[in-house]
Amino acid sequence: MNAKRTILITGGAGFIGSHVVRLFVNKYPDYRIINLDKLTYAGNLANLKDIEDKPNYAFVKGDICDYEGVREIIARNRVDGIIHLAAESHVDRSIKDPFLFARTNVLGTLTLLQVAREYWEPVGWEGKRFYHISTDEVYGSLEFDGSLFTEETKYQPHSPYSAAKASSDHFVRAYHDTYGMPTLVTNCSNNYGPYQFPEKLIPLFINNIRHRKPLPVYGKGENVRDWLYVEDHARAIDLIFHEGRVAETYNIGGSNEWRNIDLIRLTIRTTDRLLGRPEGVDEDLITFVTDRKGHDLRYAIDSSKLERELGWRPSLQFEEGIEKTVRWYLDNQEWLDNVTSGDYQKYYEDMYKGRG
Ligand code: NAD
Ligand code: DAU
Repeated sequence: MNAKRTILITGGAGFIGSHVVRLFVNKYPDYRIINLDKLTYAGNLANLKDIEDKPNYAFVKGDICDYEGVREIIARNRVDGIIHLAAESHVDRSIKDPFLFARTNVLGTLTLLQVAREYWEPVGWEGKRFYHISTDEVYGSLEFDGSLFTEETKYQPHSPYSAAKASSDHFVRAYHDTYGMPTLVTNCSNNYGPYQFPEKLIPLFINNIRHRKPLPVYGKGENVRDWLYVEDHARAIDLIFHEGRVAETYNIGGSNEWRNIDLIRLTIRTTDRLLGRPEGVDEDLITFVTDRKGHDLRYAIDSSKLERELGWRPSLQFEEGIEKTVRWYLDNQEWLDNVTSGDYQKYYEDMYKGRG
């Protein structure tokens, strides 16, 4: 791979994307990092305030589904690597608007692939890389039996979100198998940390605890997720982009399974303590509501391939990561207030009407 590279990162104004952009801009001053983001409700340039003036960074507002626009960016900048994170990412929204998820996650990915192919194939694939960021949700759901998702687990998505992500993963692999494009796919578990949009469990609940608002727990709170600190995911993406074997899939996970209700109690205790309230006093905010439709029971990732081949493993203990995260949201109330706009509130009011 050449030392000077131009990398297009899509979705860089979102939660995980902003951590990836920050890491690449700071770590690789010789690279040019172009962040292509449509700035949907989930995209926020405030996430990148600290690096926006760096000489090796540029932001372009645009839609990954816009073929001509994407072509212009790739050709003008001679992009030789793509790290693709742009997506609609929230399962609850996918249940309400599946078409949007098919458009962005499937057609958007296909558009990027086809433009990259059009630009790269005539000059040769050497030094090129298309790295697609996917999710463990494509594997479906596990029982409470200790089994884990491996890279060989059959795809069995249940939600419109995971079905769209699964479809995009298949297109990426098809571009390798059919045209020889140097692709990579990674499937990661639930991320947490700073700059996550407060519709997702952890930031939503921290904000609600602070304001003493109800905490809507879906079903009985028995579902299990495998949580990974977002900077550990960004570190894995850096490693895999540079050293991962082309055409391979790598699972990325926290080896850190939590039942939702236990995670929620830990979040309450941590938030109470940092707010100077008696620990656990806000447990009475827990409100059991109607379950999410098609709610996957358990996700858990086996990331031993990544550890074996590239030496990656999560760096943070969960209790430490949660404390860091709660502290960040409490210290950045202005960021939270800015993203929790009136429209956002209305969306949730509508969503929870009749529940409980
Ligand atoms: P996010 O919703 O916080 O950010 C998505 C970003 O994509 C936003 O900045 C948004 O503006 C942008 N975007 C959406 N549609 C676009 C379009 N048509 N054109 C250009 N930009 C567009 O998402 P996230 O949680 O940071 O997830 C990023 C990626 O990682 C997604 O592909 C997601 O499937 C995957 N992933 C997320 C998690 C997680 O726990 N959050 C775990 C595994 C994988
Ligand atoms: O596993 C990776 C996936 O993790 C990513 O691909 C998705 O983009 C990301 O959103 C996340 O999906 P989840 O559906 O697991 O995350 P969410 O934060 O929405 O929910 C976590 C768990 O908490 C899930 O079991 C549903 C539950 N939940 C969620 C919310 C928002 C509640 O009980 N109440 C809530 O209000």
